[in-house]
Amino acid sequence: MQLKGKLALILAAAATFATLAGSAMAASPVFDVDREFYPYYPSLIKWNKSTLDFTPPTVCQGCHEKQYKEWSASVHQLAFQDPVYQGELNKAVKAVGHEISRQCEGCHSPAGVVTGEIKGPGNAGLSEMALAGVSCDICHSVSGVTHWQTPSHEPENGSFILTPGVETKDGPRFVKRGPFKPSEECGGGFHDCAESSLHLQADLCASCHQVYHYDAHFPLEATYLEWKHGPYAQKNVLCQDCHMVDTASFKKTADQFIKPDRKEYRHYFNGANYLLSYLAAGAAKKAGNQEQADLFMKQYQMAVDRLKSAADIEITPSYQKGELKELQVRVKNVRAGHNLPTSLTNVRQMWLEIVAKDEAGKTVLTSGQVGADGSLPADARLFNSDGMGDNFHFAIDPWVVTSFSRHDTIPPRGYKDVYYGVPVLKGMKKLNVEVKLRYRQADQKVAEALLKAVPKDIDLEKIYGLKAVPPLPVVDMALKKASISTRQAAR
Ligand code: HEC
Ligand code: HEC
Ligand code: HEC
Ligand code: HEC
Ligand code: HEC
Repeated sequence: MQLKGKLALILAAAATFATLAGSAMAASPVFDVDREFYPYYPSLIKWNKSTLDFTPPTVCQGCHEKQYKEWSASVHQLAFQDPVYQGELNKAVKAVGHEISRQCEGCHSPAGVVTGEIKGPGNAGLSEMALAGVSCDICHSVSGVTHWQTPSHEPENGSFILTPGVETKDGPRFVKRGPFKPSEECGGGFHDCAESSLHLQADLCASCHQVYHYDAHFPLEATYLEWKHGPYAQKNVLCQDCHMVDTASFKKTADQFIKPDRKEYRHYFNGANYLLSYLAAGAAKKAGNQEQADLFMKQYQMAVDRLKSAADIEITPSYQKGELKELQVRVKNVRAGHNLPTSLTNVRQMWLEIVAKDEAGKTVLTSGQVGADGSLPADARLFNSDGMGDNFHFAIDPWVVTSFSRHDTIPPRGYKDVYYGVPVLKGMKKLNVEVKLRYRQADQKVAEALLKAVPKDIDLEKIYGLKAVPPLPVVDMALKKASISTRQAAR
């Protein structure tokens, strides 16, 4: 009897302890978390551990030089060392505590999380594998995904399984997973090969390209679901088909909804982040590696070209009683497989700039011009989202944002219309209009704040030659000019 009472007490205490321990990360009935199944929570990575370690990319380079060279200048290679990431990670750990860093690192350097090597922001003392970010042995060790088991039952926060090696009766063996049926020589004695259909699906990319709030499971970035619910997914045009090919192949794929030829695939993973490629090129040059700097500049140019081919603009005048009253500007997403812009939609900026002049060159209408301090005017028409925290206030940081108060990006093959009222134009015959769709990685002030938060061991001046944050470069994605009659032509 006494023993039973004691046991009950212990059980009750254990239950209280469990609730307390769980309370740091909410156990919500809607987003139920199985912490045994997900030992690295808030990252949803799983690791099939064997006696074999992860293999750093320079080892793969020995036999796969071509793939290595392409990947080495990609944003995936930079995913952990990226100074913008390091700044935000530093802020996250200070605001929430160390636990949140597993969530971030689970996508930005997965090996560093499961081995427990990364102890916080900064690069000092880390192994090549941890610094290599999203490297060869991450993607080619992915043996499966747990997209149905996640708290949101969607791919999120690194919901893949890493199996770099297995134990066999002949001892431990590396297994690398790829798209093809392996040949006899596959692996050159270094690794075994396994054919993996996952590598020919967007699900491989989904686990990392669905960034959810670390515990509220709100989709902060939903590139995969935007793609899945759009026309490219229906035609089996995958992330790989646009991002693992050069610019010409990508355009052909996007325009005709056809998959690239087998031999066109490359390890570029090129997207929109020209700023990061540019910074990395500067760092490589400073370190005396001109060849690597050239590779980064090639990625820079590819990202700019990609942005310049993603959208289209149409200008249509509308008249009332024969007088020009309004301009309709239609912005079309013609080649992005997901919304435009995608991912960090509450940080990236894509907006319309319009200038209209009379015949004498006098400006009669403007909107969206960047100010001298790099800020955008309040009237600028942005295609983005506004993050909102628990208290219904505007927020940017991913650990604070739990919903969007406004989400206004352009769906794949979709469009958005913007209307500009035209002032009274006495005696004027023509209105000359110039419209630009402009893009930059972030608001000037946001970028400055992020780079200020970079951990001390990353010296921006020494590594990147940055003394201060320069005005962020803007890319003009599309430009349209029109000369519009102020009076409607008689029909
Ligand atoms: C599910 C995977 C995932 C998780 C978790 C994740 N990220 Fe990311 N992060 C990404 C992807 C993918 C991008 C690229 C999106 C883009 O380029 O628009 C990115 C981009 C970024 C960028 C922009 C980098 C640049 O150069 O512009 C920052 C900053 C960043 N992440 C910080 C964080 C922090 C801090 C955390 C943790 C609180 C975090 N991320 C968690 C996948 C993830
Ligand atoms: C983000 C994930 C990812 C990373 C990182 C990555 N790969 Fe791949 N790799 C893939 C995918 C997906 C394919 C299949 C592409 C296709 O359909 O042909 C592939 C294909 C391959 C192939 C088969 C031949 C080919 O080129 O298509 C080899 C070999 C290979 N990768 C080696 C590497 C090496 C070496 C690295 C590092 C330098 C690397 N991969 C980094 C995803 C990745
Ligand atoms: C000793 C040489 C050697 C090393 C080191 C090596 N590989 Fe391979 N690997 C090969 C050979 C040979 C093939 C078969 C020919 C080919 O596809 O290039 C192959 C094939 C592959 C494939 C294609 C599998 C498929 O779908 O058919 C992938 C993926 C791959 N390797 C990944 C890696 C990764 C990742 C690393 C580093 C962790 C690595 N390899 C290191 C020799 C090597
Ligand atoms: C039909 C071609 C196409 C497909 C398919 C496609 N993308 Fe993109 N992607 C683009 C274009 C064009 C851009 C540049 C414009 C933009 O930022 O949306 C881009 C940009 C991106 C960016 C950079 C966003 C930023 O603001 O920095 C990421 C990340 C990305 N894509 C990931 C993916 C993933 C993951 C998939 C699959 C789920 C995918 N893409 C499918 C064409 C495509
Ligand atoms: C292990 C996680 C992970 C996987 C798997 C992954 N990515 Fe990424 N990817 C990232 C992170 C993190 C970044 C952003 C790094 C940064 O900006 O610091 C990124 C960036 C990118 C970018 C560049 C975005 C830009 O703004 O320019 C593209 C394109 C991209 N990924 C495509 C893919 C494709 C295609 C696949 C699948 C074949 C894939 N990724 C798989 C984590 C991943």
